Amino acid sequence: MSIHAMKSSAISVASSDTELRVMLTARCMGIRKTIALVPTMGCLHAGHAQLIRQARKMADIVIVSIYVNPLQFGPNEDFERYPRSFEADAELCASEGADIIFHPDNLYPEDGPKVTLSVRDLGDVLCGASRPGHFDGVASVVSILFNAVRPDIAVFGEKDWQQLAIIRRMTRDQHMPVQILGVETVREADGLAMSSRNRYLSDAELEKSHALSDALNRMQLLAADGEHDTAVLIAAGHTVLQDADIEPEYLEIRQADSLNKLGTLGEAPARAFVAARIGPARLIDNLPLETTLEKP
Ligand code: PAJ
Repeated sequence: MSIHAMKSSAISVASSDTELRVMLTARCMGIRKTIALVPTMGCLHAGHAQLIRQARKMADIVIVSIYVNPLQFGPNEDFERYPRSFEADAELCASEGADIIFHPDNLYPEDGPKVTLSVRDLGDVLCGASRPGHFDGVASVVSILFNAVRPDIAVFGEKDWQQLAIIRRMTRDQHMPVQILGVETVREADGLAMSSRNRYLSDAELEKSHALSDALNRMQLLAADGEHDTAVLIAAGHTVLQDADIEPEYLEIRQADSLNKLGTLGEAPARAFVAARIGPARLIDNLPLETTLEKP
């Protein structure tokens, strides 16, 4: 068994479902303990750390999974070059008080998966429009992780809001007995949402990237000031992006749960979503739009 303790603490690493069950049995000692899972693809940063801290508050045992899931990458995407940094990741997990890292080599049979989940509607818009099959891959791997880990709670970041909305809907549609906790996006000082892909960016590209959150903030402020018309809000966001010479892949306002488009704020909880390619990285961000005023 490749179970080994990390230097800095009593964190353990399981590389298969069986190893994981052995570790959990040993830690539970016949007592029912609550388990929180933080699914990740590694290359951990302060955003992931925040999810682990939230998980730590919610459960007896915290498991962080680290698995770069081939099923959610398109043929021309960055699966091969996706950054991998297991030793540093393990240090971060240990310092945030995680108990177990689930780090499988491969979660799929040798001849590939024959039964997967498919996401309707929610997976076709926003990022799904340019990444066909991406959210099927995400839903399938998260379902596998839930089966392997059997968590009571699973923690996801709001940074990937579409993913979070799909996972919530998946647990409802599939009657999965797990509570989903969403955690607010952790940002750099200039507002840029932290992402493993930020390390693809040069200094100049990093400097430019905060326009994404600037645009969303502008829309949020205008909404809070009483602007209900989503077309006006989107136009204001575009102006901020144009000033930074960014042509977004999308800049949209949608209903937070269904991800349906909204003409006017106030009908349902709304969020603004942006995606843009900056140099070698495709970056995404989103913010809630709250309006305190009555609909005109
Ligand atoms: P990954 O991109 O590694 O992200 C793991 C989790 O960290 C996700 O829930 C994501 O939303 C959250 N996260 C990333 N950046 C964040 C930030 N700046 N603030 C708060 N949370 C942040 O998302 C995935 O992996 C995969 O799709 C996965 C769910 C693991 C399935 O393979």
